Amino acid sequence: MNFPDHIDLAQYQRAYPKVAAALNSARHAPTEGELAFLKKAAETELPIGNVGPANLSFLAAVTSAIGATRILEIGTASGASSALLASIAASTLVERNLKPDGILLSTIDKKSHCLFDESKPIGFMIAALAPELVPHIAVHTGQDSFLARSIIQPGSLDLVFIDGNHQHPWPLIDVLNVLPLTRPGAWLILHDTELPRVAASLGLPARYGAKWIFDSWPHRKVGSDNIGAIALPQDHRTLRPFLKEMSAREFEVAPTGWNRYRKLMADGFDFAFK
Ligand SMILES: C[S@@+](CC[C@H](N)C(=O)[O-])C[C@H]1O[C@@H](n2cnc3c(N)ncnc32)[C@H](O)[C@@H]1O
Repeated sequence: MNFPDHIDLAQYQRAYPKVAAALNSARHAPTEGELAFLKKAAETELPIGNVGPANLSFLAAVTSAIGATRILEIGTASGASSALLASIAASTLVERNLKPDGILLSTIDKKSHCLFDESKPIGFMIAALAPELVPHIAVHTGQDSFLARSIIQPGSLDLVFIDGNHQHPWPLIDVLNVLPLTRPGAWLILHDTELPRVAASLGLPARYGAKWIFDSWPHRKVGSDNIGAIALPQDHRTLRPFLKEMSAREFEVAPTGWNRYRKLMADGFDFAFK
């Protein structure tokens, strides 16, 4: 279920029902607003560092097919994916004859400026790609997923897009931090589920954080190229043994920080299963 490496609206419309069926969604077609956003994104020069066109198309199709209107993103960078997620949430609401109300997307980034261009603030592409949605997107900089518990209502999220630090155990910590904030039937999307392969082709170090979670996920999942959606079970406690097993795998973060990471993980586990 892979998408081409450019945004192709006709192909997107053909692939959409397959993605929706894989997610057990009854939706058959994208919304008008979603297609308008993808057309604009295709015509815009997107900065490097964001989810590329093929994975962005999958992200769009999943967000739309599950009807997500309350979303959290970990890892904002330029804000290209933030604009996409919020636009799809808004078009889903419009399709239901509702007006976007309050914050549709909260997005969190560890930095205040983009890694690939320090002159650009985190989220700078949001105003370019989705100016009308700026009041409905909350950008939090200088923070990580531990912030989520203080800005998001428990049990409220339809979808979390995890695209921050890909070194194990960060994606696992992100999952732990967002688990109680999701509503029954919610999905998580992990980017860079094939990062070791992609990194090898670029001569960069392999990072397994997202791949390990996606490959071993004990519930429903749908993958495409370097991105994957994982379904949360009704009873989060059933995830505990799997998450414990993940936490025992060797860390990819610098060994000097391992004690700190063990504490962060313990805190994440406490929060996830309290
Ligand atoms: C790959 S980029 C995100 C791209 C963005 N999702 C898009 O597609 O437009 C990863 C971002 O995660 C941020 N980051 C790194 N570690 C993080 C952490 N632990 N928590 C939150 N953000 C983090 C980086 O500063 C960087 O901006």
